[in-house]
Amino acid sequence: MELGYDEAGDGRVLLLVSGFPVDRRIWAHQLTGLSDLRRVVAVDLRGRGKSPASAKGGWTMDTHADDLAETISSLGVDAVDLGGISMGGYIAFAFLRRYPEMIRSLILVSTRATPDPPEYKTGRVTTAERARRYGTRALAGSMLPNLLAEGAAESVEEEVLAMFDAVPGETSAADSLAMKDREDSTPMLGSVAVPTLVIEGAGERLLPPGTAKALADAIPEARLASIPNAGHFAPVENPDAVNEAIRGFLAG
Ligand code: MLT
Repeated sequence: MELGYDEAGDGRVLLLVSGFPVDRRIWAHQLTGLSDLRRVVAVDLRGRGKSPASAKGGWTMDTHADDLAETISSLGVDAVDLGGISMGGYIAFAFLRRYPEMIRSLILVSTRATPDPPEYKTGRVTTAERARRYGTRALAGSMLPNLLAEGAAESVEEEVLAMFDAVPGETSAADSLAMKDREDSTPMLGSVAVPTLVIEGAGERLLPPGTAKALADAIPEARLASIPNAGHFAPVENPDAVNEAIRGFLAG
């Protein structure tokens, strides 16, 4: 499936992949803020925004990775700098497993390589049922406090909620179940052969403490950036600092 996207700038492609349960606009500030450096392409994963819905029967992280590969080919390039936030990071790992030759560098934001622990999996099913029945917005009450750092501006909250509103419940249900069944990516970290930037919000509340450091330590050519005044959704909470970190990384 070829995905829909927003793009800005020219030259080498920086492909940005969203998290759950949001859309391409999680990268809106990077699209504008980094377009002097790259052709920035922020994709909508299947089932939301500018992208087609998928066939019935759900999907996996690999399905999302295959969509990215097809979309990259349609952009007319062989390889990209690939950035993924949270679930977008899980997808980046699936992509790395399947299409290593298409990655020039990797930017992993607020994500982890570990699979869901068993006690987490029941929650994924409940989340999927709730999303399917009541819509994605119904997830906001329990999720939002973990997605944003303490004291996040109301405008940031509104930006995030607008994305919740736009993602169909069926799509969030399929993503939740796909995350539940994602592979353990930790065994491959030692063989990641591209330069990698790991970004974490200093006020992260969703991932366990130490997650980003463990990830950066396990990848041979990785560096770690901690973003002040930001949590899990750092690209919208402190876009300037995220852009600066990415800019420094890509320039290097
Ligand atoms: C995300 O932000 O993509 C998700 O919250 C990640 C997760 O639930 O594991």
